[in-house]
Amino acid sequence: MKQEQLQDAVQKRRTFAIISHPDAGKTTITEQMLLFGGVIRSAGTVKGKKTGNYATSDWMEIEKKRGISVTSSVMEFDYQDKHVNILDTPGHEDFSEDTYRTLMAVDAAVMVIDSAKGIEAQTKKLFKVVKQRGIPIFTFMNKLDRDGREPLDLIGELEDLLDIEGVAMNWPMGSGKNLQGLYDLQNRRIELYHPDDEQHRFLPLNDDGQLIDDHPLLQDSLYQQTLDEVGLLKEAGNTFDRQKILQGEQTPVFFGSALTNFGVQTFLDQFLELAPAPSSHQLVDETNIAADDAEFSGFIFKIQANMNPKHRDRIAFVRIGSGEFEKGMEVKLQRTQKELRLNNATEFMSDQREQVKNAVAGDIVGLYDTGNFQIGDTIYAGKREVQYPVLPQFTPELFMEVIPKNVMKQKSFHKGMQQLVQEGAVQLYRNYQTGDYVLGAVGQLQFEVFKFRMQNEYNTEVVMKPMGERIARWIKPEQLDPAMSSSRNILVKDLAEQPLFLFENRFAEQWFENKYPDVQLTAKL
Ligand code: G4P
Repeated sequence: MKQEQLQDAVQKRRTFAIISHPDAGKTTITEQMLLFGGVIRSAGTVKGKKTGNYATSDWMEIEKKRGISVTSSVMEFDYQDKHVNILDTPGHEDFSEDTYRTLMAVDAAVMVIDSAKGIEAQTKKLFKVVKQRGIPIFTFMNKLDRDGREPLDLIGELEDLLDIEGVAMNWPMGSGKNLQGLYDLQNRRIELYHPDDEQHRFLPLNDDGQLIDDHPLLQDSLYQQTLDEVGLLKEAGNTFDRQKILQGEQTPVFFGSALTNFGVQTFLDQFLELAPAPSSHQLVDETNIAADDAEFSGFIFKIQANMNPKHRDRIAFVRIGSGEFEKGMEVKLQRTQKELRLNNATEFMSDQREQVKNAVAGDIVGLYDTGNFQIGDTIYAGKREVQYPVLPQFTPELFMEVIPKNVMKQKSFHKGMQQLVQEGAVQLYRNYQTGDYVLGAVGQLQFEVFKFRMQNEYNTEVVMKPMGERIARWIKPEQLDPAMSSSRNILVKDLAEQPLFLFENRFAEQWFENKYPDVQLTAKL
């Protein structure tokens, strides 16, 4: 690809993830976007594939689910003049560290909120990771076809709970049964909900924000009420600030209903316009690499193993940071300085795993991996050595004690443990006093995958004893006195030999803080 073509291709990329709490409507809105992108032809396609609940650790069930999550891990489509990459952030039982790591590979995030429920726990957790990256966040207040909370209240909550300014891009005219439409501040029009005549879905507004043409809505009290509310917003609300949006300090707020496909396209159009194309990345040596640099480079943010029971392969997900990926190209793995030829890459867009032809900065490629890669690895072509920053560690919330079932299998137990931990499947700790192994994770699935893979890949049955949810807090080694440990705050150390307490609950943590006011406790992201 010539430099100009590369620049052009990179400028068209929009790579983002959707963050939400389960049931807010992430699947439904994704599906609408895929419909606009022509990837699927009818609604229900993606949802229909949900295999339902699985309560057991039956691998086939996980496989089925994860098999799907591979193909839908990255959804790619062309829409208008943009090339869109949506990265899936699995929730529910599939929530894991990979969900967080995926957020390291996107240039923007869309936050879907159920307008009846407001900001919920999982949204908050994911938001924290996105906010820390300083990338733009766009908000879609969903389910407007149902009675929800007051729009002003919802916007206020963004500030109160997430510490981000919300700026309304459109404003609901009613909700639930009384939903009439959206007053679109940016496009100066009213978008009607269920218009009698599809051709007149959009009603233009004049410079004063009033309807230009005669319309029955003029006689509707909702219209006047909306004008009042919008007037108030203009006076007292936050003002649209592109710079703040790009830095993740302000979030544009759109209202709509994914299920009835109302306001989704309006959202998508403006979002794709405002969201940034891939830009430069800062490297470990503090130099920058431009997205349209002629040389290919990228980093691995996720490794998914054994997705297909017939093929024991692993797929390493690479976010391309610069240049162009070509099938069969030679790259260097920065960590080991090993030369690799990238022959086998997979595409995710549809059920068919197609071979990737070429992809550019902003795109994701899946590489078949035989054990070369680790999470956070950089690969690059060309003479300049490239190393992307290490990916952050996330504070685990669930813990398990783990031992091999058969003591004769110690060797393979240790080997499997070491490799799976290195791969980022789970986090490993040791009890400070006894040296016993403790596993940490952010989602239950991580333990299930760990157990299955220990058995299948390392032929080791493990016994796991749940320790439940715990609050992990690191303590400076020089401040540590082993006598601080009690039954309510198990003391362990991480792989870097750093000590941390696993508190039973918030109360136990507070009790500790009161008892040792000079001790500093810290969480990871
Ligand atoms: P998720 O991926 O965030 O978990 O949510 P998902 O899209 O699966 O949506 C969760 C539920 O909310 C679904 O209903 C879905 O139909 C509904 N939903 C999504 N968007 C809207 C909306 O704009 N308005 C209304 N009224 N409902 C919406 P369900 O009954 O749980 O699933 P299903 O039985 O319809 O498949």
